[in-house]
Amino acid sequence: MADAKRTATLTLDGKSYDLPVHSPTLGPDVLDIRKLYAEADVFTFDPGFTSTAACESAITYIDGDKGELLHRGYPIEQLAAQSSYLELCYLLLYGELPNSAQLSDFKGRVTRHTMVHEQMHNFFRGFRRDSHPMATMVGVVGAMSAFYHDSLDINDPWQREVAAIRMVAKLPTIAAMAYKYSVGQPFVYPKNALSYAGNFLHMCFAVPAEDYVVNPVLEKAMDRIMMLHADHEQNASTSTVRLAGSSGANPFACIAAGIACLWGPAHGGANQACLEMLKEIGTVDRIPEFVAKAKDKNSGFRLMGFGHRVYKNFDPRATVMKESADEVLDLLGVHDNPLLQVAKELERIALSDEYFISKKLYPNVDFYSGIILEAMGFPTSMFTPIFAISRTVGWIAQWKEMIGETNQKIGRPRQLYVGETQRDYVDISQR
Ligand code: CMC
Repeated sequence: MADAKRTATLTLDGKSYDLPVHSPTLGPDVLDIRKLYAEADVFTFDPGFTSTAACESAITYIDGDKGELLHRGYPIEQLAAQSSYLELCYLLLYGELPNSAQLSDFKGRVTRHTMVHEQMHNFFRGFRRDSHPMATMVGVVGAMSAFYHDSLDINDPWQREVAAIRMVAKLPTIAAMAYKYSVGQPFVYPKNALSYAGNFLHMCFAVPAEDYVVNPVLEKAMDRIMMLHADHEQNASTSTVRLAGSSGANPFACIAAGIACLWGPAHGGANQACLEMLKEIGTVDRIPEFVAKAKDKNSGFRLMGFGHRVYKNFDPRATVMKESADEVLDLLGVHDNPLLQVAKELERIALSDEYFISKKLYPNVDFYSGIILEAMGFPTSMFTPIFAISRTVGWIAQWKEMIGETNQKIGRPRQLYVGETQRDYVDISQR
């Protein structure tokens, strides 16, 4: 970080403290409060980190007012239209778009790692068949640290690299195995002649009894869904991965922590919750009832797939996803899909409603993704695992960036304590 050229002054109890002001390459200036506690004996209070930058990062930038998402400077719309998931993985991990030789070398390295240790199959068999695939994934990804001892040393850049490639390569295999196990079908081994997305579809939908040919339309749509979810700067799961990693935990444990965080309905679990909501609404005439419920604070109900901490204009991923939904349903010959009709009408009604306008609530990436995934044949329980596969590269890129920093510190937030002051222990007979 370059030395700050400006300072802000905080005055407290008659004393002044200079806070360096850093200017990022994009986005608002940042007040550096690192020395505040040592100098002024005060903390700052910011639950939910609404105004706090927890790290420096050069990977992804979001401008929530403009509805802009850049990966290493490249707009998501250009990447979604012209790139591919593995090329984006390379960009996120190494900072630049690959040339042909670099891309083919990267694909080769990922492909060599797509199988999981055969003994890991036993792990799956220990779960109940009706386990949510996210539960299985948290367990199995965490268990990778028990299998791949040669990529656990976070201080060795080569081992970090191998761990990164292993996770990008194996997450689709693990998610597909979780799915196969849940429907009682045999596991399907990866086929390295297929593309990353095509291989995932094959592992999910092929059965030994008959041939399965990957539909190129679905393959492209899956690749695009993966691109749209690949990274999103310091969101809850990424921050979880960074916090877990800051203690020196191994990379597989950190990604398992990220998967656990992603599962929540306010985060990656929203895609499943959104499709379930659209199904519950069912028909266009019931939309006003649900919109009224979403506006009623006492109902505890929110429109799933709506709103975002950072985007206060539109979510550019949602725009691409909506186009994809139209394309995929059209190409699959699914016309007049009732869920798509409900989604579009719900979007129209919500976006003309004063409540949603004033709170700047727009459809997010999860609003249309479920419609595409369901049309592809995935059950709702697989939506969040697909998000997890896609986001793994973002988590790893962010984790690698953090571990590579000099002066990296363990993450350790402070608190505003509101509990009892010191008191004396009372014997149980006197309570
Ligand atoms: N429906 C109805 N009201 C909402 C919604 C919604 N989906 N989202 C926010 N609000 C209201 C909220 O009640 C609050 O009102 P008030 O100011 O009167 O108290 C105001 O808008 C601000 O909400 P917030 O919860 O303080 O905002 P946040 O930045 O903490 O939360 C969010 C962001 C994404 C968690 C939230 O919008 C939400 O719960 N959305 C539904 C779940 C969802 O779709 N999540 C996916 C997010 S994108 C993908 C991902 O991150 O994985």
